Amino acid sequence: MKVLCIGDIVSRIGRDMLFKFVDELKYKKGVDLVIANGENSCHGRGLSRACYSEMKRAGVDAFTTGNHVWGVKEIVSIMRDEGDVIRPANLPSGSPGEGSVIVTAKNGVKVGIINLMGQVEMPPCDSPFTAAEREVERLKAVTPVIFVDFHAEATSEKQAMGYFLDGKASAVFGTHTHIQTADLKILKNGTGYITDLGMTGPSDSVLGMNKTIIVNRFRTGIPQKFELAQGRGQLCGAIFTVDEGTGKCTAVERIWIDE
Ligand SMILES: [Fe+2]
Ligand SMILES: [Fe+2]
Repeated sequence: MKVLCIGDIVSRIGRDMLFKFVDELKYKKGVDLVIANGENSCHGRGLSRACYSEMKRAGVDAFTTGNHVWGVKEIVSIMRDEGDVIRPANLPSGSPGEGSVIVTAKNGVKVGIINLMGQVEMPPCDSPFTAAEREVERLKAVTPVIFVDFHAEATSEKQAMGYFLDGKASAVFGTHTHIQTADLKILKNGTGYITDLGMTGPSDSVLGMNKTIIVNRFRTGIPQKFELAQGRGQLCGAIFTVDEGTGKCTAVERIWIDE
């Protein structure tokens, strides 16, 4: 089976990219399930009900999030009502929502999805490694097909998670940095891996934001209000082919569409 994983969707431009390309990718590549990181989908921060419904219509089956999960308050009720939006499993205990979920792909296969957040240069959270072990154990009882979104800043922490889960998860993909890495591979024990899927949003930008403002900010050191960038869009992600009997990854394909 094939699972399309889409990196951080930023703003209207990112959501439009889904409408333009997800159906085509599903059809051409034979995709059975689409997972996307939606933490920046609503004006660059958070996930609203309107954005959620729109992206579902565009073909996304399930959403992960990250440090911007609470950017729009509605997220709490969306997570409660819909059951296909998760937040990092290692957030402090008592946080609303769930850190993992099992969804059914188009081909009828049950797929476990786990969301984790890094501890390096990120808001305080529990160990993602302990949470990963716990969640994999729980989901393994139901399905061998498990996808992990590790939302983290440090490439080292992300690589470490890939090796830690090698043979335990079907794929470990990173999100949060908005820049796609070129290290797509299958690890020794059958886990598909990429350090970061990249961003789905305004292409002519710094991480989705207006580039002039960010350049001035770096040049002068004077804080300025960030604004979303406009213009053409890009869609970044990866397609992982997984043997649904063993849960092992057999192929990985990079997706980078720039308008
Ligand atoms: Fe992001
Ligand atoms: Fe993030």
